[in-house]
Amino acid sequence: MSQTTNQKNIQLIRGFKDILPGETELWQKIERTAISLFEDFGFREIRIPIMEKTELFARSIGEDTDIVEKEMYTFADRRGDMLTLRPEATASICRAYIQHKMAAQDPVRKFYTIGPMFRRERPQKGRYRQFYQIDAEIFGVAAPYADIELIFMLRTLFDRLDVTDTTAHINSLGCPACRPRFKAALAQLLSEAAPKLCSDCNRRKERNPLRVLDCKVPGCREAMAGAPSILDYLCADCRAHFATVTDTLSRLGVPFEIDKQLVRGLDYYTRTAFEIQTGALGAQSAVAGGGRYDGLVESLGGPATPAIGFAIGFDRLAEIIAAGAPVTTRPPDLFIAALGETARQQAFEWSVALGVAGIGVSMVYADKSLKAQMKQANRQNAGRVLIVGESELAAGTVVLRDMASKSQQEIPVKGLIDHLVKALC
Ligand code: HAM
Repeated sequence: MSQTTNQKNIQLIRGFKDILPGETELWQKIERTAISLFEDFGFREIRIPIMEKTELFARSIGEDTDIVEKEMYTFADRRGDMLTLRPEATASICRAYIQHKMAAQDPVRKFYTIGPMFRRERPQKGRYRQFYQIDAEIFGVAAPYADIELIFMLRTLFDRLDVTDTTAHINSLGCPACRPRFKAALAQLLSEAAPKLCSDCNRRKERNPLRVLDCKVPGCREAMAGAPSILDYLCADCRAHFATVTDTLSRLGVPFEIDKQLVRGLDYYTRTAFEIQTGALGAQSAVAGGGRYDGLVESLGGPATPAIGFAIGFDRLAEIIAAGAPVTTRPPDLFIAALGETARQQAFEWSVALGVAGIGVSMVYADKSLKAQMKQANRQNAGRVLIVGESELAAGTVVLRDMASKSQQEIPVKGLIDHLVKALC
């Protein structure tokens, strides 16, 4: 029996996706815009592995978070070591910062990284099991200027990409000195509200009570509507820090909303937490999220190092931009229509030489009529077509046709590459 008979085509893993030509152009544009902006702000690229020891994420993101409790792709490798596909980048960057003793040379470091993350969430629009993040982190700066710089940089990136229909939500989550007082005040409300809370929140209210504030279930939102604001419980230092962040952002003209319900889904945060939210993606409102994590590096065994960062949901950002302006594939600079095998052989050699010279060339390798090849050139939106006929070639000439003006010129084969490079560059 043939191998293919009765076999179903193999499909993608649920929640994973291909990013196809036609989409990748936009992804590249976003990536280029982000990299150029981040580099201008003094950030340097760091590339971290796709997999880490499970313990790294459990200890940093927090045992009681949704991510660690139920969303990580974790498995034992052949030796029984527990490994996890990274659900985010911050923990790995902290690990690298500690492991390479970066603080010893200069504790202040700015990093960015772009790549895939993995969370086994329920897939829906804007939510995938493999998704991409554009991540930026600043280590070694306790001053609120790092917070402002990151939020400003994020806003600037969105402006450069013409993403204007988003709002920055900002909150402070306090520090180990002031958060316990807030948790105590919240605990009281939570025990009274218990019957109205969803089962997840009833579990969270003991182990991770702040998360209840962030629950999207309507009953929980209603029950928490009168919840105390963490901003009323901040210590003097946290209050001053938050005031500098919000005052300076206002002076810089960055629009934002103070959102006392914003708590974020990872446990490492202290002080400033923020999200860029949009109405364009249905239930998935956060296009980017981040905040300070002043205790994380030390808790992972490194030197006491204040830090802050953000991650943009690359897929979500691309979806918002694509919905406004569909991107098309880059057309070739030149289409070569060759007629007959001798002409095709010569045309092929020219096409690789032109490719090396930076001219985007397209041609068909099969034996097709001129009409069929011109149709193809039109479909690909080629600006010019080089027509290589056998008899013209024997006479030492080819024809260059401008597809917009429909004008044609005969050009000599001698010096052709130089001529085309000059004409097309
Ligand atoms: P996060 O809020 O978990 O934060 O993720 C950041 C962004 O990644 C989200 O706002 C969202 O746009 C995108 N995202 C998250 N999960 C998915 C998913 N399943 N499908 C598609 N997009 C998703 C972090 O990961 C922190 N590490 C951010 C950070 C950096 N904090 C400090 N430094």
